[in-house]
Amino acid sequence: MSRIDTLIAQMTLAEKLGQLTMTASGYAVTGPVIAGDSTQSIIDGSLGNLLNMVGPGPSHEMQRLAVEQSRLGIPLLIGLDIIHGHRTLFPIPLAEAGLFDDALWERTAREAAREGAADGLAMTFAPMLDVSRDPRWGRTAEGPGEDPWLNTRIARAKVRGFQGGDLSSAESLAACAKHFVAYSPVNAGRDYAEVDISERTLREVHLPGFAASIEAGVATLMPSFTDLNGVPMTAHVPLLRDWLRGEMGFDGVIVSDYHAIAELMNHGVAANLVDAAVLALKAGVDVDMMSDAYRKGLPVALEQGRVTMAEIDACVRRVLRLKERLGLFDDPYRRGATPEPASVVAERHALAREIAGKSIVLLKNEHDALPLPPTAKKLCVIGPLADAHTEMKGPWWGAGEHEPAVSVLAGLRAALPRAEIRHADGVAIDGDDASGIEAAVALCDGADAVVLCLGERATMSGEAASRATPALPGRQQALADAATTRARALGIPVVAVLFSGRPLVVPRLAEQADALLAAWFLGCEAGHAVADVLTGRISPSGRTPMSWPRAVGQVPIFFGQRPSGRPMNPADYFTSKYHDVENTPLYPFGHGLGYGRFAYDELQVEPQRLGESDTLEVRVALRNVGARAAEETVFLFVRDKVAQVTRPLLELKGYAKLSLQPGEAGTVTLELPATELRYLGPDLQPLYEAGEVEILVGASAELGGLLRQTIELIWDVGDARGVAERAGFEPAEGC
Ligand code: NOJ
Repeated sequence: MSRIDTLIAQMTLAEKLGQLTMTASGYAVTGPVIAGDSTQSIIDGSLGNLLNMVGPGPSHEMQRLAVEQSRLGIPLLIGLDIIHGHRTLFPIPLAEAGLFDDALWERTAREAAREGAADGLAMTFAPMLDVSRDPRWGRTAEGPGEDPWLNTRIARAKVRGFQGGDLSSAESLAACAKHFVAYSPVNAGRDYAEVDISERTLREVHLPGFAASIEAGVATLMPSFTDLNGVPMTAHVPLLRDWLRGEMGFDGVIVSDYHAIAELMNHGVAANLVDAAVLALKAGVDVDMMSDAYRKGLPVALEQGRVTMAEIDACVRRVLRLKERLGLFDDPYRRGATPEPASVVAERHALAREIAGKSIVLLKNEHDALPLPPTAKKLCVIGPLADAHTEMKGPWWGAGEHEPAVSVLAGLRAALPRAEIRHADGVAIDGDDASGIEAAVALCDGADAVVLCLGERATMSGEAASRATPALPGRQQALADAATTRARALGIPVVAVLFSGRPLVVPRLAEQADALLAAWFLGCEAGHAVADVLTGRISPSGRTPMSWPRAVGQVPIFFGQRPSGRPMNPADYFTSKYHDVENTPLYPFGHGLGYGRFAYDELQVEPQRLGESDTLEVRVALRNVGARAAEETVFLFVRDKVAQVTRPLLELKGYAKLSLQPGEAGTVTLELPATELRYLGPDLQPLYEAGEVEILVGASAELGGLLRQTIELIWDVGDARGVAERAGFEPAEGC
């Protein structure tokens, strides 16, 4: 008998349910219910998993209770949310998505895993794979942005990074793909609200990231709090049991979200905790996080014959197998056994600075306002986010709560030690007090440039942080009005640095400022990274992974919209448009400037006719015609113009990066396997179809700026469908 079989044979029902329970330790509060002291439950075997505990000391102490004092000595699984770095905070995931760099996505997850594991953790509740097209939803900050294909790339990189090549390594953590699935399209962007979307949108937009994470070997998965078309995800048999376990063959651990099993009662599908436990177990949820529904409800359900011991055992087996894969049985103390040397921590901070710099998106740079010229010796740095070092950490700092973070003011002072840097907040992040504006704006007199640091408080995004009007809060726009008016009169440039967990609706600020930067929340090295970009030490290379709306009423706004029967035509009244705002976003997906300027040459695409087993090679030559070295991100989109169902106006299928010196030319080559051009047909099954497809390449999803060529998809030689088509008759069913 295997170790796991032997254990299961020995376990009492209470011990089994202990392995299916995860309780918070109280270090970090991430939900409405706080657990008390768990030590006795660990000793008596009725608790097998902990969350929100951090530090090798406490985690080894708890582990020792489980391993040395409980009857069966089964080690604990200890997990914590590592959303964007553990102690060393990297940029928020939305910002990191704009790196368009698989190796860097993997690297930050790897570093976070090392740091978390050194703190005694074996599991993290990441990556978050919720594609968001609605900036009102605060959890947009935690995710990949608007594009499903990009999400699949991030999913794979993050799973590789957290889990490494060997899950049992002292530097690896079990990852958790969350929140399964379609959590982001909550009604009106309000967190936890209902979700009602089509089966097609579910399969085209929301499932692919999870499929990719499973293909990458993700160890665990978390259902979302929300319902999907009337069925709460925590009890969703068709998606959890049939799709995930069945179709995808996922045999890892499904852990509920915080208190989500009990919340099945609020959803109105369970009358009591017993019902809730039965529903979750039947759907395939292995671990109950913070509901205590399994421990309280399953013994009753078992007695009533509503669940079987075999069903419980199947969950226990999955949990024990995960513990085994993590190496916890062999050495429960290997994680956290050796403190990391200071040099490793210092290198990680250097990486955090590099990633933060690369995540900044230069949205606008008129008259080359940036980088600041070396002659700029007097700077006026104003706004409530200028000296706000804690805010830089973003909405979910995890174990980085007490770690230092660098503000913009501190970063600029360090970068420009001889410059005169004046500072005033002017206004608070929110609130009605405008009395500080005049004095702050007076600091502009005699300055060479104004740096306006505006945006959201970190906690305005993240969980339970939806905003109906995701714009500048409080009186910040009034401060921007006064500062830009004064700067205009003085003839000095205004650089606006925006901090937010989402694209903000800032058309007025975008008009007023000479330069506008999306700095999201950049983590512990934020201020240094902003200074690196402002002073030109690095050229910004981030690209926005979400469209920036001109008005809240455009939301949801995303580049992958389907064409209308009446596409927008300003000359035709009865076409798809607004009366009060353009259809286009203020800044499209993929937009981001650098300090170079890239001219694109002709697009070359080969072969022009492509069979299903072929790969398309797409080449484009670029030249940096600007005055500074810079990195360009080149995007590859496709459009299937005529298909059996309407296809999006653009679908992202690739990206590549190229760094060029001024005057230098280079070529980007992208490969696109024809299988990527399959789509979900009328029956929602993948379909490869002969016909024309447009290949579009350029610097963002702005349609007008893309180079394009049309290729033809053909059936492969010998393909029965192709033979049938060439012979002029319908292929037989099953071909
Ligand atoms: C609730 C959140 O929805 C989830 O993302 C997180 O992992 C858990 N709390 C645990 O903190």
